[in-house]
Amino acid sequence: MLNLQIPHATTISALRTRVRGWREERLSVGFVPTMGALHQGHLALVQLAKAQCDRVVASIFVNPAQFAPGEDFEAYPRTVIEDSAHLAEARCDLIYLPGTEVIYPEGFATSISMTGPALGLESDARPHFFNGVATVVAKLLGQVRPDIAVFGEKDYQQLLVIRQLARDLDLGVEILAGETVRERDGLALSSRNAYLTAPERQRAGQLNVILKQFAAALAAGQTVAQARQIALEACQAGFDAVDYVDVRCTRSLAPLPEGRLETPARVLAAVRLGKTRLIDNCAASPS
Ligand code: PAF
Repeated sequence: MLNLQIPHATTISALRTRVRGWREERLSVGFVPTMGALHQGHLALVQLAKAQCDRVVASIFVNPAQFAPGEDFEAYPRTVIEDSAHLAEARCDLIYLPGTEVIYPEGFATSISMTGPALGLESDARPHFFNGVATVVAKLLGQVRPDIAVFGEKDYQQLLVIRQLARDLDLGVEILAGETVRERDGLALSSRNAYLTAPERQRAGQLNVILKQFAAALAAGQTVAQARQIALEACQAGFDAVDYVDVRCTRSLAPLPEGRLETPARVLAAVRLGKTRLIDNCAASPS
């Protein structure tokens, strides 16, 4: 029996009983899916949901389907007691803590296959990732049935994938985006930052600096090809490996012409620092 600071549900029926009670009172419901190890970035998503809705559910489920063999599924931090204290502070109304048997019961045989914004970037390094995310998010949305669900811009490609999923499958939920919360040096908050050693942490903030410079160069009229090359070299100099650094269409993540930027765009990067993979992004506008 978990001793948490706010109500929690571990089964679909307990979750639905709670949500049905709110519905009977004509209360709106917001939802923030997470994998736990919560930080201020997650809590900002809860606060955004709370500003839009009468009641907020946050789920914590470390989804095995979005980790490939050899990735950090086992090592992923699990801190449910601390998480519940943070969620209480953020005035979350219910924590949904499904076990693997609730999300993937025996005989489960469905996987959602995403293309569109899921192609390239993260998928090049993690081909399993967005199908795993789309499948679990569709399940969670079907279980909670919220009016809105909130996802962080930190995982910008994931946000677009989920918007596409909700639209394509007529899920009847509005997907809202929460701004990235950053450390003082610009490092985007992430549960995986806990893997950084002290010297790596000193270097990690550089990723946001490089992306801001990339966006500024595009706004100043440098071509996509030149600005990307400079950002790539800066990432190569600052990190142990670079998965990608690129600028893409802000709405579809489609590649852009190599000349001067002419439409709103997003610069995005993924780099490796020791055993930590850092991802980040920011908006870029034409001059
Ligand atoms: O962003 C995350 O924490 C996860 O990908 C999500 C959306 C909770 C799905 O497991």
